[in-house]
Amino acid sequence: MNTQLFLQQAYELVKDEENITANLANMSAFLNEIIPDINWVGFYLVDNHELILGPFQGKVACLRIPIGQGVCGKAALLHQTICVADVHQFSGHIACDSRSKSEIVIPIIVQSELMGVLDIDSPYFNRFTLNDQDFLEKIVEIIAEYIFKKGQRSQ
Ligand code: SME
Repeated sequence: MNTQLFLQQAYELVKDEENITANLANMSAFLNEIIPDINWVGFYLVDNHELILGPFQGKVACLRIPIGQGVCGKAALLHQTICVADVHQFSGHIACDSRSKSEIVIPIIVQSELMGVLDIDSPYFNRFTLNDQDFLEKIVEIIAEYIFKKGQRSQ
């Protein structure tokens, strides 16, 4: 994967638009194009004390996830990336698509405040490497800086 090129493309994709929904929708489509061997990629966004489904690519998914529950809710609670090699071994995993076997969730944090999470599922065990995690955390830095910070300023 040419990560430098993809990070540049991700930045170019969102730098001129201030609407958060439009930017997240395009970002989910972009990630779906460039990341092989995945079956779901998208966003859950903070809504009171829950996460609510945001723009995504993949099968129909659960609408709301309480903070602390599932892989998404746990990453949201801890403000930490969670990478799960085998979702069947993760206590409390929420199965939206039965094909999912591994998953990575990266929290989106702006000035210590949780905005939401980026969630990616794969139909293969152990799909996500440390290199993938590093790349996806850089993608989420772009999302935090150029989608949420900029979007907030415009609201
Ligand atoms: N598996 C997630 C739920 C969301 S779906 O994967 C799209 C979880 O355990 O939080």
